[in-house]
Amino acid sequence: MIEQTFAMIKPDAIIGKNTGRILTMVEDSGFDILRMHKVMLTKEGAERFYAVHKDKPFFNELVEFVTSGPVLIMVLEKDNAIAEWRKLMGATDPAKADQGTIRSLYAESIGKNAVHGSDSKETAQEELSLFFAPPAPPQQQAK
Ligand code: RTP
Ligand code: MG
Repeated sequence: MIEQTFAMIKPDAIIGKNTGRILTMVEDSGFDILRMHKVMLTKEGAERFYAVHKDKPFFNELVEFVTSGPVLIMVLEKDNAIAEWRKLMGATDPAKADQGTIRSLYAESIGKNAVHGSDSKETAQEELSLFFAPPAPPQQQAK
């Protein structure tokens, strides 16, 4: 089933100039990039985005990292996009990520791990609506 997922290239990968290489992997894997822009997350925005982790010991570090530089946020579309994007990202810890995945190639550590992807239909809906309001005229939604 054609699905959309929310994806993010995190500050470590942007600062490391790996954006182009990651986007090539995205397109070569058959995803359509429906929407994309580079933003800085505010502290409040990052806390809201990662609210599910607010009681974890790494929460403050996570918010600090994801607000430390620009991120590239995207809407990706493909058959089974949510699971397919998680598969292309690889495991959270790059040491455990399968060979050829984005995290195996470009993540530095479990904290600085290059990319984010929604982990279920529900979180994809929440994250997409948190980050992407419908475009106002003179633009309209691209397909
Ligand atoms: P993400 O949400 O960023 O796509 O990553 P994920 O689903 O693979 O991992 P998740 O469990 O949701 O954790 C969110 C992010 O928190 C950071 N983290 N640090 N220091 C640690 O032990 C630790 N554990 C997780 C990572 O940046 C992870 O992507
Ligand atoms: Mg997650």
